[in-house]
Amino acid sequence: MNYNRSEFQASYGLSSQLPESDRPEFVFSGRSNVGKSSLINRLCNRKNLARVSATPGKTATINFYRVDTAYFVDLPGYGYAKVSNADRERWDELINSYFEADRALNVLVQLLDSRHAPSADDVQMMEYLHFHRIPFVVALTKADKLKKSEMTAQLEEFRITCAPYGCKQVFLTSAEKGIGVEELRQYLDACLAPEA
Ligand code: GTP
Ligand code: MG
Repeated sequence: MNYNRSEFQASYGLSSQLPESDRPEFVFSGRSNVGKSSLINRLCNRKNLARVSATPGKTATINFYRVDTAYFVDLPGYGYAKVSNADRERWDELINSYFEADRALNVLVQLLDSRHAPSADDVQMMEYLHFHRIPFVVALTKADKLKKSEMTAQLEEFRITCAPYGCKQVFLTSAEKGIGVEELRQYLDACLAPEA
């Protein structure tokens, strides 16, 4: 993929609005504030393609980006304590209908904070992915906050934790420093051309 060919398409707050599934989709999922938008920006060498916010729980829409021949799909973050029950229900409805629609989902990138063990919400999300047989990899985020020795240890720890849910691979990444980003790009490229 030419990651330099990226463009924001639209934000969708209702599942009925989702665009036609006319190209492979790479989906980014994770807790609010884990770094989804930042990683998308870094993958695409852009500063402001996806909106990065220091206040969690702001993005309640599914955001679509066209990246060369694919879509990047930025899911609304979960696990933010201060949302109302109505918002939570809306999130559930939006996410469920996204996954239940017959879309060309290629692989999902599940983002987890490299510094902490997965939260209860993270585990629930991985159980959901496993149950629905959604192919996924894990991107550990904010690796720039770890010491070198912690990087190796956390990577190994998360491999063990995530494998039972069907996680195919674990990447250590930093949107800030660019760690692991090229590796992830190559993985996504390989997913587009499985015969190669
Ligand atoms: P929601 O849209 O609310 O779900 O959040 P998000 O997952 O898209 O997170 P976002 O990319 O907006 O980043 C949240 C915060 O984490 C921002 O303050 C970022 O600057 C910071 N952040 C993201 N990636 C990194 C990283 O690799 N390293 C460091 N140190 N901070 C990061
Ligand atoms: Mg975001």
